[in-house]
Amino acid sequence: MEVIVVERPEDAAPIVADAYSRLLAAKPDAVLGLATGSTPLGVYDELVRRYEAGELTFASARAFLLDEYVGLPADHPERYRAFIERVFTGRVDLRPDAVQGPDGLAEDLSAAGVAYDAAIREAGGIDLQILGIGADGHLAFNMPMSSLTSRTRLKTLTPKTRLDNARFFDDDLDQVPRHCLTQGLGTIMESRHAVMLGFGLNKAQAVRECVEGAVSARWPASVLQLHPHATVVVDAEAASQLT
Ligand code: F6R
Repeated sequence: MEVIVVERPEDAAPIVADAYSRLLAAKPDAVLGLATGSTPLGVYDELVRRYEAGELTFASARAFLLDEYVGLPADHPERYRAFIERVFTGRVDLRPDAVQGPDGLAEDLSAAGVAYDAAIREAGGIDLQILGIGADGHLAFNMPMSSLTSRTRLKTLTPKTRLDNARFFDDDLDQVPRHCLTQGLGTIMESRHAVMLGFGLNKAQAVRECVEGAVSARWPASVLQLHPHATVVVDAEAASQLT
């Protein structure tokens, strides 16, 4: 595991964007794994900047989302598919049909999870997976005690996650979905390069446990210690508990 400590979150964006630039230069039809949440937004902005400057094209690339809420209508603005389109994929030349997320509207949600892993495999696997980390060490919606070998599957959102996310739903808990489909930790571990970002003091304990602690389902992101090519990019605050 490679750990890169930068002074401020904005210093991480060019470093991570360089990994995309290198990948897309070598493999224009690369498969990208995209996270939602606030942490990767600076990276997405930098990728958009490079695209607009003519330095980068995503025209032949494909992308898979990490996770999706269950049951939100297709036109709901808080669907992760809509979110990623707003903040990234709709701002570059990625073809809309080249962006895929777990089908949170499927009738058979378990089958949708299996189909999603199959679609990733058929695309040749994810070349570069970007990840945020939760303050409790979660990766995607794999909360503490998730199986380290889990596949894309249906999960029940914890009361805390629903409460945390209520701000995106007019602070109305009733509007927050109760379930999600999430890539499993085993699915994430199959990406060829996993880049996890963590910023801010509230991520410091999780970063310490996941980088220096025991590999354990208690801190799901610790599984990345077993990844053959994992890069962790953290700011000074998030790195403050590392030895
Ligand atoms: C995003 C995701 C989540 C976030 C994590 C951190 O697709 O699955 O695991 O990466 O909750 O969220 P932020 O970046 O908002 O701190």
